Formats: sequence, C-alpha cells, structure tokens
Amino acid sequence: MTARLRLGVNIDHVATIRNARGGDHPCPVRAAHLAAAAGADGITAHLREDRRHMTDADIARLVREIDLPLNLEMAATDEMLAIALRNRPHAACIVPERRAERTTEGGLDAAGQHNTLKPIVSRLGDAGIRVSLFIAPEARQVEAAARLGVPVVELHTGPYAHSDGSVDELGRLRESATRAASLGLEVHAGHGLSFANVGPVAAIPQLAELNIGHFLIGEAVFTGLGAAVAEMRRRMDEARGC
Ligand code: PXP
Repeated sequence: MTARLRLGVNIDHVATIRNARGGDHPCPVRAAHLAAAAGADGITAHLREDRRHMTDADIARLVREIDLPLNLEMAATDEMLAIALRNRPHAACIVPERRAERTTEGGLDAAGQHNTLKPIVSRLGDAGIRVSLFIAPEARQVEAAARLGVPVVELHTGPYAHSDGSVDELGRLRESATRAASLGLEVHAGHGLSFANVGPVAAIPQLAELNIGHFLIGEAVFTGLGAAVAEMRRRMDEARGC
C-alpha cells in the first residue's frame, strides 16, 4: 500500500463556461466548494495572460473564500509574479504559456531558462509560496528543477494521455518520478488525465498529487461535479491500494 495521493481539481473550465455568456454563472468558487465536499484536496486555477478563463477577481475570491489550498498556475512573468505575491496562494506552479495555444502544450524549459526562472522562484519562495515547475518527464528537466531549488515538480502527463503507444510514456513518467524523488523533490503530475487513463499514473508510488481539470468539468455536465470528483478520487485510491 502506498501513501494516499492528493487530488487537485483544476476549475479553469468552469470559468470558460461562465465567460461564454459574460455573466457570473457558473461560479468557480461554488465549484471549488463542491469539489472540496466531494474529496478534492486542493484547487488549481490558471490565471492566463489573456484571462481567457480565470480572472484576477476569481483568484482573489478563491484565496479568500475556500478552505482548501489554492495552487495558482502562472507564467514566469513580472505581472504574474506581482499577482501571486499580492494574493499569496498556498502554491504556485510555473507553466510555459503561448498565446495561440489551446491549453498548456509543452513543459517548461527549466534547463534552458535557469536565469529567467531563478529570481521568480526565489521571490515566490521567500513569500512562503510553495513553488512547482511544470516540466516534461525528462531527466535533464528534473535535474534543472532541482538546481533551481524548487520543492516540487509537476510532470506533464499530456504525452502519456495522448500516446499512440509508440513511445513508453508511462515508463518516462516512472523514471522521472523516481529521479525527482531521489533528488528530494515532491512529485506531482497532471494534464489530460481521465477515468480511463488515471490508474497507471496514480500507481506510481513517488507521486504525491495529481492535478486534473478538463475531464472532470466535462464529466460534470453528465453526472455533476461532486460525482465526477468522487469517482476520480475512488479510482486514484484503488490504483494506490488504499
Ligand atoms: N497541470 C497543469 C500544470 C496544467 O497546466 C493543467 C491544465 O491547465 C492541468 C494540470 C490540468 O490539465 P487537464 O485540464 O487536461 O486535466
């Protein structure tokens, strides 16, 4: 039996639906409360530079009004750094951001961007915010993250989720999780996870947390958000043997 995995529920797409009509329904804060009641351990929200889903006001309300830890996903920019320092979420996950992408497509180049990332990582850390870097499951990115002194890495599971089987993506996740843990990093993972593919990832013993969004919000259309979160929680626990 392996330690229980935390489930971070990403509620960005509640805001996507709200923004389709410009009003205040459905409300991301209400979604966060529902997710908490159904077994989420944390809430994740990405304040994108173009504000296509979450807004600055959403982040401020989430920090103020929810009881679970908030993980703010953010690009490594001065603007986002200032917002994080103002709101003081529990954690900040630095992600790469390209305006034209539909979602976060690749991992952060922790190896190539050491000098850009270092001051941002330090400022967040000094403010007591737990910093993670969203990286591809590659040894050189894991090692670069360790050199940057972050406490956490989040491994990008998108390639695993969309794999055609020609590359052993699960093996890459396992190896990177082992390497990261051996360097003293806490290991998270996320992107593209669903009921169908979460099991093998959840079974990787070094993982401490999964962050899951789009599938859960989509499933909520059919079963409700509480039922979707509870079923994901059940599948994660089953894969973990707890
Ligand atoms: N982790 C990170 C760093 C992400 O950027 C995202 C997408 O916002 C997720 C997890 C969740 O991915 P998905 O919405 O595909 O479950």
